[in-house]
Amino acid sequence: MSLYEFTAPCHFGMEAVLKREIINLGYDIVRVEDGRVTFRGEASAIARANAFLRTAERVLLSVARFKAYTFDELFERTKALPWADYLPVDGKFWVKKASTTKSKLFSSSDIQSIVKKAIVEKLKQSYHVDWFKEDGAAYPLRVFIFKDEVTIALDTSGESLHKRGYRKLISKAPVSETLAAAILLLSPWNKDRILVDPFCGSGTFPIEAAMIGANIAPGMNREFTAEAWTNILPKKAWYEAITEANDAIRDDVELDIQGYDIDGEVIKSARQNAIDAGVDHLIHLQQRPVSALSHPKKYGFVITNPPYGERLEEREALPALYKELGDAYSRLDAWSCFVLTSYDQAEKYIGRKADKNRKIYNGMIKTYLYEFMGPRPPKRKKQED
Ligand SMILES: C[S@@+](CC[C@H](N)C(=O)[O-])C[C@H]1O[C@@H](n2cnc3c(N)ncnc32)[C@H](O)[C@@H]1O
Repeated sequence: MSLYEFTAPCHFGMEAVLKREIINLGYDIVRVEDGRVTFRGEASAIARANAFLRTAERVLLSVARFKAYTFDELFERTKALPWADYLPVDGKFWVKKASTTKSKLFSSSDIQSIVKKAIVEKLKQSYHVDWFKEDGAAYPLRVFIFKDEVTIALDTSGESLHKRGYRKLISKAPVSETLAAAILLLSPWNKDRILVDPFCGSGTFPIEAAMIGANIAPGMNREFTAEAWTNILPKKAWYEAITEANDAIRDDVELDIQGYDIDGEVIKSARQNAIDAGVDHLIHLQQRPVSALSHPKKYGFVITNPPYGERLEEREALPALYKELGDAYSRLDAWSCFVLTSYDQAEKYIGRKADKNRKIYNGMIKTYLYEFMGPRPPKRKKQED
């Protein structure tokens, strides 16, 4: 069975989390670069990676990696590739995106048209035809050029993988699903620990946590471009991935996950999103201001994304709001607290220096993840009190 190479882009700084997910799925890592992890697997990895990976933005099937300094080289090296192994005679293919950094070739639109032209020329030879109808399955391509090294890949996912299919209702400034999952997976939180998000908005942290806790694969309720690629992997591979995902669900799991927000409408949206994700029975959602945050248990996690003040009037309210969060946190006995925000005074008003802070991009917004670590609970107990 032939092995393919795949590249999965992820949030910058989350490569180690994605790498661990890929290893857990049983694939060999080829390389880890900024914002992407490359791995090797059989064709069925297309279905499994799309269905199971929580922190990848998409799964790209690499066709080739080569150096090109001129458009002639780009054309000839692209044309030399075995395109008929990837594209059927009726396939609809186009270069959806071309990006280039620190390279001689810099015009994205020229790169897009030259790569397409080279593929057409190769396929004419392979299929002995002059013209392609392109009325079959879609095969979008992506081209990246970094320091003159060209990578050409097929996009197996289609819509970005952060679109799980459950979040139709979003609050004002939602955190992306893949980023929320990555933060949960890098934190010491696990399904046996308490989790509270006091600024839960559309519910992304609680919902992603419940999906992790119940082992619900993130891609079970959506479609992927490569489902139509029967020349590369049979339909059966997708059914097998979904069966595997269904078998993995922990139906009897008991979780202690709570989401609160001051806005009642937002809580209604979060509830609907939790229903659509199939985890509403695992999460307690309620309208409540952060000032009322308290919990009787000794150990637990606050993982949250408070307002960070995109608008001026909101900015003025931030010192008081972060102080409320800090006061509430100080009343929680031995808890840990992870705060994702772009507010640069967060530590000052929370009233405590973070044990660690990481720079993370949430979309285009530069944010920090402040990690305040509580003590570990005693070892032998399963759930602490
Ligand atoms: C950045 S958004 C959170 C987005 C969320 N992570 C998501 O993915 O949808 C901040 C949320 O804090 C809520 N909020 C503002 N002031 C609050 C307060 N005093 N107590 C609790 N929630 C508050 C807002 O209603 C908003 O939904």
